[in-house]
Amino acid sequence: MTTLLETSTPLRSATAATPPARIVLIGFMGAGKSTVGRLLAMQLGWQFIDTDTCVEERHGCTVAEMFALNGEAAFRQRESAELARALGRQHAVIAVGGGAPEILTNRLLLEQTPGTAVVFLDAPFPVLFDRCVLQEGAAVRPVLMDASAAELRFQARAPFYRRCAQHSILTERHTPGDTAACILSSMGVDRT
Ligand code: S3P
Repeated sequence: MTTLLETSTPLRSATAATPPARIVLIGFMGAGKSTVGRLLAMQLGWQFIDTDTCVEERHGCTVAEMFALNGEAAFRQRESAELARALGRQHAVIAVGGGAPEILTNRLLLEQTPGTAVVFLDAPFPVLFDRCVLQEGAAVRPVLMDASAAELRFQARAPFYRRCAQHSILTERHTPGDTAACILSSMGVDRT
């Protein structure tokens, strides 16, 4: 199982001695952040928070509607506010939207909130694109409407994902259960 995990840097805040207070999953759309996050939260007996869902619930419209009505910049501000709120929670698994690590404020929040373990769920762009479009159609995720522009975003974001995360996991050939188990085994947190 540990072969799935590439530890890019030593853990800052999540060691066996000091398990994290929260686990944040980052990665491009389709990486499995919500699916793996829900599973992980269930296994830990922790709360699951999806920042996209928080934004939608607080503002009463879908992310796609927000992009169309208010523009991406307004969505990004709302997303940052939800991330800050979520990072105030203990015993939470937090899935953040694929674009969040592009924003400096969000990267600082992730890096500087003590007790936060950040895990990057990685996979090649064509795999992610197919997963999203086959599952839900591009309309749910405005950033995927133009495939070439989405691939450029993927390339631009990769260094941010790597820099933010203490762990990177290649998910392409693994089930969400494998990925969750891999994260658990690296964290030193006990299942309840
Ligand atoms: C986005 C990813 C989406 C959502 C929004 C923008 C992005 O979240 O935040 O559509 O810019 O990558 P998921 O990564 O959970 O699909």
